[in-house]
Amino acid sequence: MEYREFGSTGIMVSEIGVGCGGLGGEAKEGLEPAIERALDLGINLFDTCDTYAESRSEQTLGRVFRNHPRERIVICTKFGGVIDENGDWHRDISIPHLHEAFEASCRRLNTDYLDIYLVHTPPRDICNEEDLFAELDMMVDQGKIRTYGLSLEAGDFAIEFVNATKGRGIEIYFNLFAQEPRQAFLDVAREKGVGILPKVPIAAGVLSDSFVPDDPPADDRRLRRWGPEKYQRFAEYHKKVRPILTANGRTMAQGALAWLLTFPEVSTVIPGISSLERIEETAGASGMRLTEDEMAALDAIDGGVLVGKRVQ
Ligand SMILES: NC(=O)c1ccc[n+]([C@@H]2O[C@H](COP(=O)([O-])OP(=O)(O)OC[C@H]3O[C@@H](n4cnc5c(N)ncnc54)[C@H](OP(=O)(O)O)[C@@H]3O)[C@@H](O)[C@H]2O)c1
Repeated sequence: MEYREFGSTGIMVSEIGVGCGGLGGEAKEGLEPAIERALDLGINLFDTCDTYAESRSEQTLGRVFRNHPRERIVICTKFGGVIDENGDWHRDISIPHLHEAFEASCRRLNTDYLDIYLVHTPPRDICNEEDLFAELDMMVDQGKIRTYGLSLEAGDFAIEFVNATKGRGIEIYFNLFAQEPRQAFLDVAREKGVGILPKVPIAAGVLSDSFVPDDPPADDRRLRRWGPEKYQRFAEYHKKVRPILTANGRTMAQGALAWLLTFPEVSTVIPGISSLERIEETAGASGMRLTEDEMAALDAIDGGVLVGKRVQ
């Protein structure tokens, strides 16, 4: 496993991480052996959130982490919302909630500090929350967190955030089909020493061998979520990028991760956990990079339609 510095924070992260969205929920139970395997393979970065699977994601990780030295693990988790008794999520970025959420995450994760603490999908005016960032700076000084940042839907205020605060972590949609960060943010991230975690790195599985471009099963989760037209559009792009991603013996998911890791500004990729075999496949992408010709061939698809925007 190869490691990279998370921006200029001094935190060393495995370039392959594990996305723990949904972990411990109905569809992702019993994955403790996959997390153990990830640790065996040298993966140290786990991305979770206090509200993933009603906190069961953090609880599951905490059960596994109990058996490993704390310094061997880099925990990235998030706060900024509460789930009410009806199961609805509400934003809460108040300072009392920050402290409650921090204590609760630490209890579940079996730790007394967090490495990367992100505000979960905040609104644009988060950059005005000076008191919140002052509090987070104090938590850094107290050794409770090592750095903080934002987990964003789109990157349009990532730059404003890194200019306004000392927080040095940005989690952002970034994959071959969602390339805005490449043009909008990478230069600034490099200059300012920001660690980048691309989320949904294999485009919810579209950039993998398990995606069925033609005649997908009616219960495919993406078909149900997107409808046939959008599914078809992604299926066409899947077919176009597939020969390039799978060159040089790569699986398609490895090719998608290697594409991201070819950007030195990317710190770690966080493919969503689904099985032990998938962890082995994604760990195998460490050290893989695309060649200049492969990058250029991907950029040239349909006159560069993939570059600079999200394909949707
Ligand atoms: N903060 C936020 O707002 C936010 C939002 C979304 C995601 N995230 C983070 O990003 C992580 C990843 O997102 P994601 O799971 O939606 O998207 P993803 O990593 O792009 O796609 C994961 C899916 O791809 C399929 N797949 C096929 N081959 C794979 C392989 N070798 N390794 C892993 N998966 C493979 C799996 O489904 P099958 O097993 O069915 O093939 C898996 O569920 C989340 O777990 C979370 O940590 C954060």
